[in-house]
Amino acid sequence: MGIKMKVVLAKTSGFCFGVKRAVDMVYEQLEKSKAGGIYTYGPIIHNEEVVSDLEKKGVKVINSKEELASLENVSVVIRSHGVSKDIYELMESNGINCIDATCPFVKRIHGIVEKESENGRRIVIIGNDGHPEVEGIKGWSKTPAIVVEDARTAENFNEKTGEKLCIVSQTTFNYKKFQDLVEIFEKKGYDIIVANTICNATEERQREALELAAAADVMIVIGGTHSSNTRKLYELCKSRCASTYYIQTLADLKLDLPNSVELVGITAGASTPNKIIEEVQNYVRFNF
Ligand code: F3S
Repeated sequence: MGIKMKVVLAKTSGFCFGVKRAVDMVYEQLEKSKAGGIYTYGPIIHNEEVVSDLEKKGVKVINSKEELASLENVSVVIRSHGVSKDIYELMESNGINCIDATCPFVKRIHGIVEKESENGRRIVIIGNDGHPEVEGIKGWSKTPAIVVEDARTAENFNEKTGEKLCIVSQTTFNYKKFQDLVEIFEKKGYDIIVANTICNATEERQREALELAAAADVMIVIGGTHSSNTRKLYELCKSRCASTYYIQTLADLKLDLPNSVELVGITAGASTPNKIIEEVQNYVRFNF
């Protein structure tokens, strides 16, 4: 390694707080109940390695509500996205031990939606319809919630005047887009409560990656090729640092570091496990 070369790992690289907590909870549960019978409601994370490691250890994935309904007296982990209220009820009536790994930031949205819909407000969720987190949020509203993901749907919303609304957001929605959509509703003159429930984990990861890439001679971005947030990280880094590598694991890294390199920066997408990040980091630290 060039004498002056430094390797800096972005603090916000990899799992966000909520995903880390959820994955840890599954491993903890494995420790506790040696007898098995552990399920996750949907894959715990969008990372095949983690899911297959858990599978090898006996953790099974439930893919539908029907499948859940057919189980009794087992342990089921709810992932960070959260679920609708009826899923908790179903688990309770089937005697299922519910291990709730819903991210507390998502849980907060459930609370707002339940309370405000009870108070007679119509729930508007700014987010992507069909996304599991949005589906879960919908299921806490006492009255049918509407999902808005673009300006056209917002413009077309035409409830009677005097309608009271409560607007929340999917945690990973873009803040600028959220503001623009809220503005469309505000112009319509409804009585509105707006809860900005966007989580800043993604934004912070991107901001830190940009800063690091601006200072680095070489930048390494780790994450799945299908992971849209990793791709975004890569594009941001590339815009500041021409020599940016996009790898899935250490095996993909064909690093060429001239002596003039002083700073190598590393970041990773939201579903990249720590183990892979560490392997890459150690490799760069000790082989150049
Ligand atoms: Fe992660 Fe929870 Fe935010 S799952 S992205 S910390 S809402």
